[in-house]
Amino acid sequence: MPEHYKALQGFRDILPDEQPYWRFVEETAAAVAHLYGYKRIETPLLEDTAIYRRTAGEGTDIVDKEMYSFDDRPDKDGKSDNIALRPEGTAGVVRAYLEHGMFKLPQPVKLYYMSTPMFRRDKPQAGRYREHHQFGCEALGESDPAIDAEMIGLLYQVYMQLGLRHIRVHLNSIGDRNCRPQYIETLRDYYRPLLSTCCEDCQVRFYKNPLRLLDCKEAQDQPKIENAPKIADSLCEPCREHFAAVQRYLTNYGVPFSLNSLLVRGLDYYTRTVFEFTSERDKNALNGGGRYDGLAEILGGQPTPGIGFGMGMERIILEMKRQGVTPPVEEHTHAFVVALGKTAEVKDATVQLVADLRHSGIKAEMSYGDRGFKAQMKQVKSSSADYALLLGEDELAQGLVTVKDQRSNEAGMEAQQVQIKREEIVDYLKEY
Ligand code: HAM
Repeated sequence: MPEHYKALQGFRDILPDEQPYWRFVEETAAAVAHLYGYKRIETPLLEDTAIYRRTAGEGTDIVDKEMYSFDDRPDKDGKSDNIALRPEGTAGVVRAYLEHGMFKLPQPVKLYYMSTPMFRRDKPQAGRYREHHQFGCEALGESDPAIDAEMIGLLYQVYMQLGLRHIRVHLNSIGDRNCRPQYIETLRDYYRPLLSTCCEDCQVRFYKNPLRLLDCKEAQDQPKIENAPKIADSLCEPCREHFAAVQRYLTNYGVPFSLNSLLVRGLDYYTRTVFEFTSERDKNALNGGGRYDGLAEILGGQPTPGIGFGMGMERIILEMKRQGVTPPVEEHTHAFVVALGKTAEVKDATVQLVADLRHSGIKAEMSYGDRGFKAQMKQVKSSSADYALLLGEDELAQGLVTVKDQRSNEAGMEAQQVQIKREEIVDYLKEY
Protein backbone atom coordinates (compact mmCIF):
# COMPACT_ATOMS: atom_id res chain seq x y z
CA MET A 1 0.00 0.00 0.00
CA PRO A 2 1.50 3.35 -0.94
CA GLU A 3 1.60 5.79 1.92
CA HIS A 4 -0.59 8.89 1.55
CA TYR A 5 0.51 12.03 3.30
CA LYS A 6 -2.04 14.09 5.13
CA ALA A 7 -1.92 17.55 6.69
CA LEU A 8 -0.71 17.41 10.29
CA GLN A 9 -3.29 17.10 13.04
CA GLY A 10 -4.76 20.50 13.85
CA PHE A 11 -3.53 22.00 10.53
CA ARG A 12 -5.96 22.68 7.68
CA ASP A 13 -5.84 23.29 3.98
CA ILE A 14 -7.93 26.28 3.00
CA LEU A 15 -9.39 25.03 -0.26
CA PRO A 16 -10.65 27.18 -3.17
CA ASP A 17 -14.31 26.69 -2.17
CA GLU A 18 -13.67 28.41 1.15
CA GLN A 19 -11.60 31.25 -0.27
CA PRO A 20 -14.56 33.56 -1.04
CA TYR A 21 -15.27 33.66 2.72
CA TRP A 22 -11.65 34.58 3.45
CA ARG A 23 -11.62 37.25 0.79
CA PHE A 24 -14.87 38.75 2.04
CA VAL A 25 -13.66 38.87 5.65
CA GLU A 26 -10.24 40.23 4.61
CA GLU A 27 -11.68 42.95 2.37
CA THR A 28 -14.33 43.99 4.89
CA ALA A 29 -11.95 44.05 7.86
CA ALA A 30 -9.22 45.92 5.94
CA ALA A 31 -11.74 48.53 4.73
CA VAL A 32 -12.99 49.17 8.28
CA ALA A 33 -9.43 49.25 9.68
CA HIS A 34 -8.47 51.87 7.05
CA LEU A 35 -11.62 53.85 7.87
CA TYR A 36 -10.41 54.09 11.48
CA GLY A 37 -6.89 55.11 10.40
CA TYR A 38 -5.05 51.81 10.88
CA LYS A 39 -2.14 50.85 8.61
CA ARG A 40 -1.01 47.33 7.81
CA ILE A 41 2.03 45.70 9.37
CA GLU A 42 3.24 42.10 9.08
CA THR A 43 6.00 40.75 11.29
CA PRO A 44 8.07 37.55 10.92
CA LEU A 45 6.65 34.16 11.75
CA LEU A 46 9.74 33.28 13.82
CA GLU A 47 10.88 35.38 16.77
CA ASP A 48 13.16 34.92 19.73
CA THR A 49 11.20 32.70 22.16
CA ALA A 50 12.05 35.11 24.98
CA ILE A 51 9.71 37.81 23.69
CA TYR A 52 6.72 35.50 24.19
CA ARG A 53 7.95 34.13 27.52
CA ARG A 54 8.42 37.64 28.88
CA THR A 55 5.17 39.17 27.56
CA ALA A 56 2.47 36.49 27.25
CA GLY A 57 3.99 35.12 30.44
CA GLU A 58 5.31 31.97 32.08
CA GLY A 59 2.41 30.14 33.66
CA THR A 60 0.06 30.74 30.72
CA ASP A 61 -1.07 27.78 28.62
CA ILE A 62 0.14 29.46 25.44
CA VAL A 63 3.72 29.72 26.68
CA ASP A 64 4.00 26.71 28.98
CA LYS A 65 2.09 24.10 27.01
CA GLU A 66 1.39 25.21 23.47
CA MET A 67 4.33 27.09 22.00
CA TYR A 68 6.30 25.56 19.11
CA SER A 69 9.78 26.58 20.19
CA PHE A 70 13.10 25.00 19.34
CA ASP A 71 16.83 25.63 19.14
CA ASP A 72 17.88 26.96 15.75
CA ARG A 73 20.89 25.40 13.97
CA PRO A 74 24.11 26.62 15.58
CA ASP A 75 25.99 29.45 13.84
CA LYS A 76 29.72 29.20 13.08
CA ASP A 77 30.62 29.90 16.72
CA GLY A 78 28.42 27.03 17.85
CA LYS A 79 25.81 29.35 19.36
CA SER A 80 22.17 28.75 18.65
CA ASP A 81 19.06 30.82 19.36
CA ASN A 82 15.90 29.48 20.87
CA ILE A 83 13.17 30.58 18.49
CA ALA A 84 9.40 30.14 18.33
CA LEU A 85 6.63 30.04 15.77
CA ARG A 86 4.41 33.04 16.54
CA PRO A 87 1.68 31.98 19.00
CA GLU A 88 0.11 35.47 19.05
CA GLY A 89 0.57 38.79 17.27
CA THR A 90 0.98 41.51 19.88
CA ALA A 91 4.51 40.86 21.16
CA GLY A 92 5.98 40.91 17.62
CA VAL A 93 4.18 44.15 16.71
CA VAL A 94 5.42 45.88 19.87
CA ARG A 95 8.94 44.57 19.19
CA ALA A 96 8.73 46.06 15.67
CA TYR A 97 7.36 49.37 17.03
CA LEU A 98 10.39 49.67 19.33
CA GLU A 99 12.93 48.35 16.83
CA HIS A 100 11.88 50.82 14.12
CA GLY A 101 11.59 53.82 16.44
CA MET A 102 7.86 54.21 15.75
CA PHE A 103 7.62 55.96 19.13
CA LYS A 104 9.13 58.98 17.34
CA LEU A 105 6.11 59.19 15.01
CA PRO A 106 2.96 61.10 15.97
CA GLN A 107 1.15 58.93 18.51
CA PRO A 108 -0.88 56.80 18.58
CA VAL A 109 0.57 54.49 15.95
CA LYS A 110 -2.37 52.43 14.70
CA LEU A 111 -1.51 49.12 13.06
CA TYR A 112 -3.37 46.05 11.79
CA TYR A 113 -2.39 42.60 10.55
CA MET A 114 -4.47 40.37 8.34
CA SER A 115 -4.92 36.59 8.11
CA THR A 116 -1.69 36.30 10.06
CA PRO A 117 -0.85 32.68 10.95
CA MET A 118 -0.49 31.79 14.64
CA PHE A 119 0.65 28.44 16.03
CA ARG A 120 -0.46 26.84 19.29
CA ARG A 121 -0.08 23.16 20.09
CA ASP A 122 -3.58 23.04 21.51
CA LYS A 123 -5.88 19.99 21.55
CA PRO A 124 -7.55 20.16 18.12
CA GLN A 125 -11.36 20.40 18.20
CA ALA A 126 -14.12 22.35 16.45
CA GLY A 127 -12.93 25.94 16.04
CA ARG A 128 -9.59 25.20 17.72
CA TYR A 129 -6.62 24.46 15.51
CA ARG A 130 -2.86 24.27 15.85
CA GLU A 131 -2.51 26.82 13.09
CA HIS A 132 -5.08 29.59 13.04
CA HIS A 133 -5.15 33.05 11.46
CA GLN A 134 -5.95 36.40 12.98
CA PHE A 135 -7.06 39.82 11.87
CA GLY A 136 -5.65 42.03 14.62
CA CYS A 137 -5.30 45.71 15.47
CA GLU A 138 -2.82 47.35 17.84
CA ALA A 139 -2.80 51.05 18.82
CA LEU A 140 0.39 52.15 20.56
CA GLY A 141 1.30 55.30 22.45
CA GLU A 142 -2.11 56.44 23.71
CA SER A 143 -3.92 55.79 26.98
CA ASP A 144 -7.11 57.78 26.25
CA PRO A 145 -10.15 55.56 26.95
CA ALA A 146 -11.57 56.86 23.64
CA ILE A 147 -9.15 54.53 21.89
CA ASP A 148 -10.37 51.55 23.91
CA ALA A 149 -13.90 52.32 22.71
CA GLU A 150 -12.65 52.91 19.16
CA MET A 151 -11.00 49.49 19.12
CA ILE A 152 -14.17 47.73 20.23
CA GLY A 153 -16.30 49.92 17.95
CA LEU A 154 -14.10 49.08 14.96
CA LEU A 155 -14.42 45.38 15.62
CA TYR A 156 -18.17 45.61 16.09
CA GLN A 157 -18.47 47.46 12.79
CA VAL A 158 -16.58 44.64 11.05
CA TYR A 159 -19.12 42.11 12.37
CA MET A 160 -22.04 44.29 11.33
CA GLN A 161 -20.62 44.83 7.83
CA LEU A 162 -20.10 41.09 7.48
CA GLY A 163 -23.80 40.67 8.24
CA LEU A 164 -23.26 38.79 11.53
CA ARG A 165 -25.93 39.08 14.18
CA HIS A 166 -26.41 37.93 17.79
CA ILE A 167 -22.92 39.07 18.81
CA ARG A 168 -22.23 39.54 22.51
CA VAL A 169 -19.56 41.95 23.69
CA HIS A 170 -18.07 41.09 27.11
CA LEU A 171 -16.18 43.81 28.90
CA ASN A 172 -14.12 44.00 32.07
CA SER A 173 -11.29 45.95 33.66
CA ILE A 174 -8.54 44.03 35.39
CA GLY A 175 -6.84 47.05 36.91
CA ASP A 176 -3.23 48.11 36.62
CA ARG A 177 0.05 47.68 38.46
CA ASN A 178 -1.22 49.90 41.28
CA CYS A 179 -4.44 48.11 42.15
CA ARG A 180 -4.10 44.61 40.75
CA PRO A 181 -1.48 43.29 43.19
CA GLN A 182 -3.82 44.16 46.04
CA TYR A 183 -6.72 42.39 44.32
CA ILE A 184 -4.55 39.33 43.76
CA GLU A 185 -3.78 39.21 47.46
CA THR A 186 -7.51 39.47 48.24
CA LEU A 187 -8.18 36.67 45.75
CA ARG A 188 -5.44 34.50 47.25
CA ASP A 189 -6.77 35.11 50.76
CA TYR A 190 -10.17 33.95 49.56
CA TYR A 191 -8.82 30.84 47.81
CA ARG A 192 -6.21 29.78 50.39
CA PRO A 193 -8.61 27.89 52.68
CA LEU A 194 -10.37 26.35 49.64
CA LEU A 195 -7.25 25.27 47.81
CA SER A 196 -7.31 21.59 48.79
CA THR A 197 -10.77 21.27 47.15
CA CYS A 198 -9.67 22.95 43.88
CA CYS A 199 -8.80 21.12 40.66
CA GLU A 200 -5.12 20.38 39.98
CA ASP A 201 -4.76 23.21 37.47
CA CYS A 202 -6.14 25.73 39.96
CA GLN A 203 -3.67 24.55 42.57
CA VAL A 204 -0.91 25.58 40.14
CA ARG A 205 -2.72 28.80 39.08
CA PHE A 206 -2.94 29.86 42.72
CA TYR A 207 0.84 30.28 42.75
CA LYS A 208 1.69 31.02 39.11
CA ASN A 209 -1.23 32.96 37.68
CA PRO A 210 -3.97 33.61 40.27
CA LEU A 211 -6.23 35.71 37.98
CA ARG A 212 -6.73 32.60 35.87
CA LEU A 213 -8.45 30.93 38.84
CA LEU A 214 -11.51 32.84 37.66
CA ASP A 215 -11.29 31.23 34.23
CA CYS A 216 -11.42 27.59 35.41
CA LYS A 217 -13.97 25.46 33.57
CA GLU A 218 -14.12 22.55 36.09
CA ALA A 219 -17.59 22.04 37.60
CA GLN A 220 -16.22 21.62 41.14
CA ASP A 221 -14.71 25.12 41.08
CA GLN A 222 -17.70 27.06 39.71
CA PRO A 223 -19.32 27.89 43.11
CA LYS A 224 -15.95 29.21 44.34
CA ILE A 225 -15.66 31.42 41.26
CA GLU A 226 -19.17 32.78 41.74
CA ASN A 227 -18.44 33.83 45.31
CA ALA A 228 -14.92 35.12 44.67
CA PRO A 229 -14.20 38.83 45.31
CA LYS A 230 -14.80 40.91 42.18
CA ILE A 231 -11.96 42.88 40.66
CA ALA A 232 -14.33 45.78 39.91
CA ASP A 233 -14.53 46.37 43.67
CA SER A 234 -10.74 46.69 43.94
CA LEU A 235 -10.01 49.12 41.09
CA CYS A 236 -8.05 52.24 42.02
CA GLU A 237 -9.59 55.61 41.20
CA PRO A 238 -7.74 56.20 37.89
CA CYS A 239 -8.67 52.69 36.67
CA ARG A 240 -12.26 53.19 37.76
CA GLU A 241 -12.46 56.50 35.87
CA HIS A 242 -10.85 55.00 32.80
CA PHE A 243 -13.30 52.10 32.77
CA ALA A 244 -16.31 54.38 33.25
CA ALA A 245 -15.17 56.51 30.29
CA VAL A 246 -14.70 53.43 28.07
CA GLN A 247 -18.29 52.47 28.78
CA ARG A 248 -19.59 55.97 28.03
CA TYR A 249 -17.70 56.16 24.73
CA LEU A 250 -18.88 52.70 23.74
CA THR A 251 -22.39 54.05 23.86
CA ASN A 252 -21.29 56.75 21.36
CA TYR A 253 -20.17 53.96 19.05
CA GLY A 254 -23.53 52.23 19.52
CA VAL A 255 -21.94 49.02 20.79
CA PRO A 256 -24.14 46.99 23.13
CA PHE A 257 -21.97 45.35 25.79
CA SER A 258 -22.26 43.46 29.04
CA LEU A 259 -19.92 43.70 32.00
CA ASN A 260 -18.33 40.37 32.83
CA SER A 261 -16.31 40.40 36.03
CA LEU A 262 -14.90 36.94 35.30
CA LEU A 263 -13.28 37.92 32.02
CA VAL A 264 -9.53 37.81 32.69
CA ARG A 265 -7.99 36.67 29.33
CA GLY A 266 -5.27 34.06 28.87
CA LEU A 267 -2.20 36.27 28.43
CA ASP A 268 -0.29 38.05 31.18
CA TYR A 269 0.32 41.39 29.52
CA TYR A 270 -3.15 42.88 29.96
CA THR A 271 -3.97 45.91 32.09
CA ARG A 272 -7.27 47.73 32.58
CA THR A 273 -9.76 47.15 29.73
CA VAL A 274 -10.21 43.57 28.47
CA PHE A 275 -12.89 42.32 26.09
CA GLU A 276 -14.09 39.33 24.12
CA PHE A 277 -16.92 38.84 21.65
CA THR A 278 -18.92 35.62 21.49
CA SER A 279 -21.90 34.57 19.44
CA GLU A 280 -25.09 33.61 21.21
CA ARG A 281 -24.77 29.99 20.18
CA ASP A 282 -21.09 29.28 20.75
CA LYS A 283 -18.98 29.80 23.84
CA ASN A 284 -15.72 29.92 21.86
CA ALA A 285 -14.49 33.51 21.71
CA LEU A 286 -14.68 35.05 18.25
CA ASN A 287 -11.97 37.51 19.26
CA GLY A 288 -10.20 38.78 22.32
CA GLY A 289 -8.22 41.82 23.28
CA GLY A 290 -7.40 44.48 25.77
CA ARG A 291 -5.02 47.13 27.00
CA TYR A 292 -1.35 46.28 27.65
CA ASP A 293 0.21 49.42 29.08
CA GLY A 294 3.29 47.65 30.49
CA LEU A 295 4.26 45.52 27.50
CA ALA A 296 6.67 47.88 25.73
CA GLU A 297 8.68 48.27 28.92
CA ILE A 298 8.99 44.50 29.31
CA LEU A 299 10.58 44.48 25.84
CA GLY A 300 13.06 47.20 26.83
CA GLY A 301 11.18 50.29 25.62
CA GLN A 302 9.97 53.41 27.38
CA PRO A 303 6.61 53.13 29.14
CA THR A 304 4.13 53.08 26.24
CA PRO A 305 0.42 52.44 26.56
CA GLY A 306 -1.15 50.08 24.07
CA ILE A 307 -4.38 48.29 23.24
CA GLY A 308 -5.41 45.74 20.65
CA PHE A 309 -7.35 42.65 19.71
CA GLY A 310 -7.02 39.48 17.67
CA MET A 311 -9.98 38.08 15.76
CA GLY A 312 -9.83 34.41 14.73
CA MET A 313 -10.51 34.20 11.00
CA GLU A 314 -11.51 30.52 11.16
CA ARG A 315 -13.97 31.18 13.98
CA ILE A 316 -15.57 34.11 12.14
CA ILE A 317 -16.00 32.02 9.01
CA LEU A 318 -17.50 29.14 11.02
CA GLU A 319 -19.92 31.62 12.57
CA MET A 320 -20.81 33.08 9.15
CA LYS A 321 -21.63 29.59 7.92
CA ARG A 322 -23.66 28.89 11.04
CA GLN A 323 -25.66 32.08 10.54
CA GLY A 324 -26.06 31.48 6.79
CA VAL A 325 -24.04 34.57 5.84
CA THR A 326 -22.64 33.99 2.36
CA PRO A 327 -19.82 35.93 0.71
CA PRO A 328 -20.48 37.84 -2.52
CA VAL A 329 -20.38 35.61 -5.59
CA GLU A 330 -17.01 35.79 -7.34
CA GLU A 331 -16.96 37.18 -10.87
CA HIS A 332 -17.57 34.40 -13.37
CA THR A 333 -15.93 33.81 -16.76
CA HIS A 334 -17.11 36.26 -19.41
CA ALA A 335 -15.71 34.57 -22.47
CA PHE A 336 -14.47 31.06 -23.25
CA VAL A 337 -12.39 30.70 -26.40
CA VAL A 338 -13.05 27.49 -28.33
CA ALA A 339 -10.60 26.30 -31.00
CA LEU A 340 -12.30 24.84 -34.09
CA GLY A 341 -9.62 22.55 -35.46
CA LYS A 342 -6.23 21.43 -34.33
CA THR A 343 -3.82 23.32 -36.60
CA ALA A 344 -0.94 25.34 -35.18
CA GLU A 345 -2.46 28.54 -36.67
CA VAL A 346 -5.77 28.03 -34.88
CA LYS A 347 -3.99 27.24 -31.60
CA ASP A 348 -1.78 30.34 -31.91
CA ALA A 349 -4.81 32.52 -32.64
CA THR A 350 -6.67 31.03 -29.65
CA VAL A 351 -3.80 31.76 -27.25
CA GLN A 352 -3.48 35.28 -28.72
CA LEU A 353 -7.20 35.99 -28.33
CA VAL A 354 -7.37 34.78 -24.72
CA ALA A 355 -4.22 36.83 -23.91
CA ASP A 356 -5.75 39.99 -25.50
CA LEU A 357 -8.98 39.54 -23.54
CA ARG A 358 -7.14 39.12 -20.25
CA HIS A 359 -4.91 42.11 -20.94
CA SER A 360 -8.09 44.13 -21.43
CA GLY A 361 -9.44 43.01 -18.06
CA ILE A 362 -11.97 40.53 -19.42
CA LYS A 363 -12.16 37.28 -17.46
CA ALA A 364 -11.46 34.70 -20.15
CA GLU A 365 -10.72 30.97 -20.38
CA MET A 366 -9.65 28.53 -23.07
CA SER A 367 -9.38 24.79 -23.15
CA TYR A 368 -5.94 23.19 -23.16
CA GLY A 369 -4.66 20.13 -25.02
CA ASP A 370 -6.43 19.22 -28.24
CA ARG A 371 -9.99 18.51 -27.18
CA GLY A 372 -12.68 18.24 -29.83
CA PHE A 373 -15.52 20.73 -30.29
CA LYS A 374 -18.05 18.83 -28.13
CA ALA A 375 -15.63 18.44 -25.22
CA GLN A 376 -14.78 22.13 -25.36
CA MET A 377 -18.44 23.13 -25.40
CA LYS A 378 -18.92 21.01 -22.27
CA GLN A 379 -16.18 23.04 -20.60
CA VAL A 380 -17.87 26.25 -21.71
CA LYS A 381 -21.03 25.07 -19.99
CA SER A 382 -19.35 24.08 -16.74
CA SER A 383 -17.45 27.40 -16.64
CA SER A 384 -20.82 29.27 -16.87
CA ALA A 385 -19.17 31.65 -19.34
CA ASP A 386 -21.43 34.32 -20.83
CA TYR A 387 -19.97 33.83 -24.31
CA ALA A 388 -18.28 31.07 -26.28
CA LEU A 389 -15.89 32.56 -28.84
CA LEU A 390 -15.33 30.17 -31.75
CA LEU A 391 -12.15 30.45 -33.74
CA GLY A 392 -11.37 28.18 -36.73
CA GLU A 393 -9.82 28.26 -40.20
CA ASP A 394 -12.84 30.10 -41.67
CA GLU A 395 -12.83 32.78 -38.96
CA LEU A 396 -9.07 33.25 -39.38
CA ALA A 397 -9.40 33.63 -43.13
CA GLN A 398 -12.12 36.29 -42.75
CA GLY A 399 -10.65 38.08 -39.72
CA LEU A 400 -13.75 37.25 -37.64
CA VAL A 401 -14.72 35.60 -34.36
CA THR A 402 -17.99 33.68 -33.98
CA VAL A 403 -19.69 34.72 -30.76
CA LYS A 404 -22.27 32.40 -29.17
CA ASP A 405 -24.33 33.99 -26.40
CA GLN A 406 -24.48 31.25 -23.78
CA ARG A 407 -26.93 33.17 -21.62
CA SER A 408 -29.69 32.88 -24.21
CA ASN A 409 -28.78 29.20 -24.40
CA GLU A 410 -29.18 28.80 -20.67
CA ALA A 411 -32.58 30.47 -20.75
CA GLY A 412 -33.66 27.46 -22.84
CA MET A 413 -33.48 29.32 -26.16
CA GLU A 414 -31.29 28.61 -29.15
CA ALA A 415 -27.86 30.20 -28.49
CA GLN A 416 -27.74 33.48 -30.42
CA GLN A 417 -24.76 33.62 -32.68
CA VAL A 418 -23.11 36.59 -34.37
CA GLN A 419 -19.81 37.20 -36.11
CA ILE A 420 -17.66 40.09 -34.93
CA LYS A 421 -14.49 41.48 -36.49
CA ARG A 422 -11.41 40.21 -34.66
CA GLU A 423 -10.20 43.75 -33.93
CA GLU A 424 -13.58 44.72 -32.48
CA ILE A 425 -14.09 41.74 -30.19
CA VAL A 426 -12.67 43.34 -27.02
CA ASP A 427 -14.94 46.38 -27.35
CA TYR A 428 -17.91 44.15 -28.14
CA LEU A 429 -17.35 42.03 -25.02
CA LYS A 430 -16.85 45.08 -22.86
CA GLU A 431 -20.17 46.45 -24.05
CA TYR A 432 -22.20 43.25 -23.67
P1 HAM B 1 -6.25 35.32 21.98
O1 HAM B 1 -7.53 35.49 22.74
O2 HAM B 1 -5.30 34.31 22.48
O3 HAM B 1 -5.58 36.75 21.94
O4 HAM B 1 -6.60 34.99 20.47
C1 HAM B 1 -7.41 35.86 19.72
C2 HAM B 1 -8.46 35.08 18.94
O5 HAM B 1 -7.80 34.14 18.08
C3 HAM B 1 -9.39 34.22 19.78
O6 HAM B 1 -10.46 34.96 20.31
C4 HAM B 1 -9.88 33.23 18.74
O7 HAM B 1 -10.88 33.81 17.91
C5 HAM B 1 -8.63 33.01 17.90
N1 HAM B 1 -7.91 31.81 18.34
C6 HAM B 1 -7.06 31.68 19.36
N2 HAM B 1 -6.60 30.42 19.47
C7 HAM B 1 -7.17 29.72 18.47
C8 HAM B 1 -7.08 28.36 18.02
N3 HAM B 1 -6.32 27.47 18.62
N4 HAM B 1 -7.81 28.00 16.93
C9 HAM B 1 -8.61 28.90 16.30
N5 HAM B 1 -8.72 30.19 16.66
C10 HAM B 1 -8.02 30.61 17.73
C11 HAM B 1 -4.42 37.04 21.30
O8 HAM B 1 -3.85 36.28 20.56
C12 HAM B 1 -3.95 38.45 21.55
N6 HAM B 1 -2.68 38.66 20.85
C13 HAM B 1 -5.00 39.44 21.08
C14 HAM B 1 -4.58 40.84 21.32
C15 HAM B 1 -4.06 41.69 20.40
N7 HAM B 1 -4.60 41.47 22.47
C16 HAM B 1 -4.11 42.68 22.31
N8 HAM B 1 -3.77 42.82 21.06
